[in-house]
Amino acid sequence: MNKSHIKQTFGKASKTYDREAPVQQWAAELLIGYIEGLNLKSVGHCLEIGCGTGFLSEKVYRLFPAADWLITDLSAEMLDQCKARFPVGKNITFQVMDGEKPTVHEHYDLIVSSLAFQWFYDLSGSLHHLSELLNPEGRLIFTTLGPDTFIEWRQLFEAYEQPVGLHRYPSVSELNSYVFDGCRVDFTSHHKTQNYRDGFAFLKALKTIGAQVPQSGYRPLSAGALRKMLKALGSDEQGCTMTYEILLGEIVREKDK
Ligand SMILES: C[S@@+](CC[C@H](N)C(=O)[O-])C[C@H]1O[C@@H](n2cnc3c(N)ncnc32)[C@H](O)[C@@H]1O
Repeated sequence: MNKSHIKQTFGKASKTYDREAPVQQWAAELLIGYIEGLNLKSVGHCLEIGCGTGFLSEKVYRLFPAADWLITDLSAEMLDQCKARFPVGKNITFQVMDGEKPTVHEHYDLIVSSLAFQWFYDLSGSLHHLSELLNPEGRLIFTTLGPDTFIEWRQLFEAYEQPVGLHRYPSVSELNSYVFDGCRVDFTSHHKTQNYRDGFAFLKALKTIGAQVPQSGYRPLSAGALRKMLKALGSDEQGCTMTYEILLGEIVREKDK
């Protein structure tokens, strides 16, 4: 994956993203429900990574309106869309930032992110870094994608002996096995299926939200071969069902002893 390519494709999709992002909406709701269930008190400094157009930002801000917020994204265009959801003069700073290399000097009570970390080059290294930005009892709460995501695509391409091009996503047990000094880690897996008119509509939806960047080194299929695979994925009559595996959980910094 090339980071400037990721930035560019999300930037281009910033104005169409909301039209084709029901799963991202669903994941943001799931994350909000999880945070509400924690009944957190004394949340003063908060950071969001990969805000996109602001599905999560708007909802999570409403939970902690008195906190200081730093809301960030790799793409300036996405950040602008998010900014437009908030009235001017709120206690929020917006900043273009690569969440893998946070340029912040603060520590946070809450760091949140929904469906952005699957774009990181080095997930465990980045989580380690972010966990070090947590105050005692601070939490890094996020969703990311798990390995059953687009399993229908993977199985079909494998059956036809075609290169798959999907990213490698960590399993929930892999995430739970991560060890960060002074922190505990707790993740669960959630499956969501989404129906599309056919295989072409699925691919178009990915493009509309800017999520079509394949694994690095992937050599795209010829137009004819891709058309054949998309037809096999689902037609007008039967539709195309796609699975998304959402991993949800938190890394919590223990209280200082
Ligand atoms: C699928 S969208 C999710 C957006 C939003 N959180 C939501 O729930 O709808 C992924 C977002 O992550 C951003 N992103 C990708 N890589 C990033 C990185 N390394 N640091 C910060 N943001 C990143 C993209 O620009 C895009 O806005």
